Amino acid sequence: MTNSLASAATNLDRVGYLDLEVDPEFDLIAGINRLKKEKNAVILAHYYQDSEIQDVADYIGDSLGLSQKAAVTDADIIVFAGVHFMAETAKMLSPNKKVLLPDLKAGCSLADSCPPHLFKKFREKYPDHIVVSYINCTAELKTLTDICCTSTNAVAIIESIPKNQPIIFAPDKNLGAYLIKKTGRDMVLWNGACMVHEIFSHERIVKLKNRHPEAKFIAHPECEAHILEMADFIGSTTGLLNYTIKDSAREYIVATEAGILHQMQKASPLKTFIPAPPNNNCACNDCPHMKRNTMEKLYLCMEYELPEIVLPDWVIKQGVKSIDRMLEISEKAGLGLKG
Ligand code: 13P
Ligand code: SF4
Repeated sequence: MTNSLASAATNLDRVGYLDLEVDPEFDLIAGINRLKKEKNAVILAHYYQDSEIQDVADYIGDSLGLSQKAAVTDADIIVFAGVHFMAETAKMLSPNKKVLLPDLKAGCSLADSCPPHLFKKFREKYPDHIVVSYINCTAELKTLTDICCTSTNAVAIIESIPKNQPIIFAPDKNLGAYLIKKTGRDMVLWNGACMVHEIFSHERIVKLKNRHPEAKFIAHPECEAHILEMADFIGSTTGLLNYTIKDSAREYIVATEAGILHQMQKASPLKTFIPAPPNNNCACNDCPHMKRNTMEKLYLCMEYELPEIVLPDWVIKQGVKSIDRMLEISEKAGLGLKG
């Protein structure tokens, strides 16, 4: 390590992670596994993380599974290999635990598209509406939310609300439009979106389907309506993964962040998975926020227990209600974590 921890921690504010160099010869996997044991730490990773991070994690899942796991873990430290709103959710659910995020700048374009001060004004225009927010939003937005949802439980959450109760849905207009279609509920939508799921090219997907006529096209509901219309199956990351395991096709074109392909390929090694092509000349559809986490940053954050997620008490107290409500409805609906 070249810099001192003191100077590196000062750099944290600027770069968002511990600015220390790790010897390229150092065995990061062994180092991370040793720190897990020594510190009674658990690594929770989202499917969009790099495959090597997924392989060192204790639990890999979608947003619902990750929050359910964060709520019940008996570890002293939760290391969140995901993005900022996910680590915040873990902190709200386990406020007495230390929650670490390898890179504090691992944000989310969808969460950023709904600044709480603007949403507060927007909500004032609809005093009779209740607010359902996709979990991909800031902790402060959760304080302005009645019930959270994820892509796994969104339909069940909307359907649990009495039919005569008007709803505002934030922040994802694409997931919102999909839910309106699926549930028949007329919701007021906030105009936000995810940069990764809005990038898919209709034209390039059609061409790819023509070249692979046997392939099924599967998509995440954060995609735009014209992409979802082409899909043989629509689901959350876990939903898409389970579909590819149970379905009999041999080939899939997958419209979501490419990290999920690692678990799909592991679960079905004889099947072929093709990432859906984006609207640019790049062949990948990586989330730049998710991909800020690296094995080096993961190791360093466990070694020095920095950067840590810290939230004001009022945000935890207010915000966790909407997450608890979501977890209750999910449990009743039999959704999420098994075992
Ligand atoms: P899920 O894994 O819950 O489907 O969420 C997808 C996503 O975009 C997370 O940022
Ligand atoms: Fe946010 Fe989209 Fe990245 Fe998920 S994939 S973290 S919604 S920017």
